[in-house]
Amino acid sequence: SWTMLNIVDDAIAAVREQVGDGRAICALSGGVDSAVAAAIVQRAIGDRLTCVFVDHGLLRKGEAEQVERDFVEATGVKLRVVDAEERFLKALAGVVDPEEKRKIIGREFIRVFEDEQRAILADGPVDFLVQGTLYPDVVESGGGTGTANIKSHHNVGGLPEDLRFELVEPLRTLFKDEVRRAGEELGLPAAMVWRQPFPGPGLGIRIIGEVTRERLDILREADAIAREELSRAGLDREIWQCPVVLLADVRSVGVQGDGRTYGHPVVLRPVTSEDAMTADWARVPYDVLARISTRITNEVREVNRVAVDVTSKPPGTIEWE
Ligand code: XMP
Repeated sequence: SWTMLNIVDDAIAAVREQVGDGRAICALSGGVDSAVAAAIVQRAIGDRLTCVFVDHGLLRKGEAEQVERDFVEATGVKLRVVDAEERFLKALAGVVDPEEKRKIIGREFIRVFEDEQRAILADGPVDFLVQGTLYPDVVESGGGTGTANIKSHHNVGGLPEDLRFELVEPLRTLFKDEVRRAGEELGLPAAMVWRQPFPGPGLGIRIIGEVTRERLDILREADAIAREELSRAGLDREIWQCPVVLLADVRSVGVQGDGRTYGHPVVLRPVTSEDAMTADWARVPYDVLARISTRITNEVREVNRVAVDVTSKPPGTIEWE
């Protein structure tokens, strides 16, 4: 729309003004916020922006390709991809505690990103770091009054001297729905623009037990089926998100194909919510649940049971870890 076009154009102009002829870097997560922020900065300064995508191996099926192929095609962004699956799996080996997993994933991410920053700095100075901070984040952290053109000069704390940057936050005045409309205006892939919330630690906190490549592959397949069927049923907007959780240390007896199996259960966790602070379990139609269950147990050999979580938040959280 006309107003959305203005918002995007204004954001591009503001970035151009802030960055001048400097260089910037941006970490892409696969989510809509970092994607829209990066696309705006790319329009403003072209390939003086370098994006970094750390593939930690904990993403869902197709998500890495969405960033590496579809997003790059749509925007022309200069992208460095780091295949860090091995490194993350090594760091996560033997770890079952949820907070421990989060800490390790966060720490490894920062280390990998810092290595990339240093590699980019080798081509010349970089003064700016792009972040997809939204208006509600700004308000929550007490960081602003919504005034559009406040430059954030706060250096990100705790970083080594050579990795300190001025922040570029082109979404600072926008709400989520405006960010999605900006994403459409910028021609980003629909799957990214409309992606439901997905945690930074990814599938790492949806495997109850140790995270291994085999378990990730099992969960990725089951999750892809659930997402496909929920989308096909037209429930994407109605459902806030639907984690699929692999109970990796639980086995139960089943009968699949030619005989007895001893496989794992997965749990579907479809929820409705306004802001993730509270949530209700989504009343997904039985026929949709039936299709998901049949397909998962037919197509994912290691899974012989599908359960549905019918707990609201509180007392349950949305994620299981
Ligand atoms: P819970 O499980 O606390 O989740 O009800 C609330 C929302 O936050 C997401 N979530 C996370 N997002 N890093 C993230 O970036 C995390 O460690 C994390 N844990 C939960 C969750 O998907 C839901 O949308």
